[in-house]
Amino acid sequence: MAARTRIFAANWKMHKVEEEVESFIQEFCNYTLPPVEEGRCRLVFFPPHPYLHVFKRLGGAMKAEWGAQNMYHEDKGAFTGEVAPPMLLDMGCRWVLLGHSERRGIFGETDAMVKRKVDAALSRGLRPMVCVGETLEERESGVLFDKVGAQVDAVLEGLGADEAGRLAFAYEPIWAIGTGRNADGGQAEEMIAFIRSRVARKAGEAAASSIPVLYGGSVKPHNIAEFTSREEVDGALVGGASLDPASFRDIVLNGMSAR
Ligand code: PGA
Repeated sequence: MAARTRIFAANWKMHKVEEEVESFIQEFCNYTLPPVEEGRCRLVFFPPHPYLHVFKRLGGAMKAEWGAQNMYHEDKGAFTGEVAPPMLLDMGCRWVLLGHSERRGIFGETDAMVKRKVDAALSRGLRPMVCVGETLEERESGVLFDKVGAQVDAVLEGLGADEAGRLAFAYEPIWAIGTGRNADGGQAEEMIAFIRSRVARKAGEAAASSIPVLYGGSVKPHNIAEFTSREEVDGALVGGASLDPASFRDIVLNGMSAR
């Protein structure tokens, strides 16, 4: 089977205002990124909602795709403060990031809520990138596979092989997010292989071998190769180090030269 295309995704969280978004894009457009131009990897940006329109206008020039960091599962209605799938499609989004640990931890999103969003995204033609991962306590007490397995199973419930094949997962150990303490390549590879086996069990081998599973958590230009040199790891979801254009460029270039 053909190798999966690598994905480098930028999660900007609650950072940047319009002028900074525009200057990032202008700067990034000056770079030469052969792996992107040759279609050997894909770039996906997750800016804050108010700036998706900037990507709609300028994102294509970076040969990038983009998506929102969250959405609600209904198409419209009395849901003050929420954003609906058709709005994301209107902003040119192909993707939506769902179940990030900050959404789960700070805003109380449960597996059931994430699942409703995943189903809504798939039925609207958006690709969900679903974040899963364990706390340090869960890792140390040995329940990490139970935790991540349950998160993955919740997402896959009731999906056919075609639908499951349109998902992407990001394995983001919570103890590695924004802490400067990344997982090592072996830990990432082990969990990503486990996620893929879980997809195979629930949705079949074809879906499992086609879906991208990324690593996220303190990815930087100097450590990206640790992950992308591993067969199982299909790229990275990058927070802090994606805010600076040169840093994100170096993550892509170093990540793609690792194999
Ligand atoms: P980080 O964030 O790269 O700043 O650790 C990753 C994420 O939360 O997606």
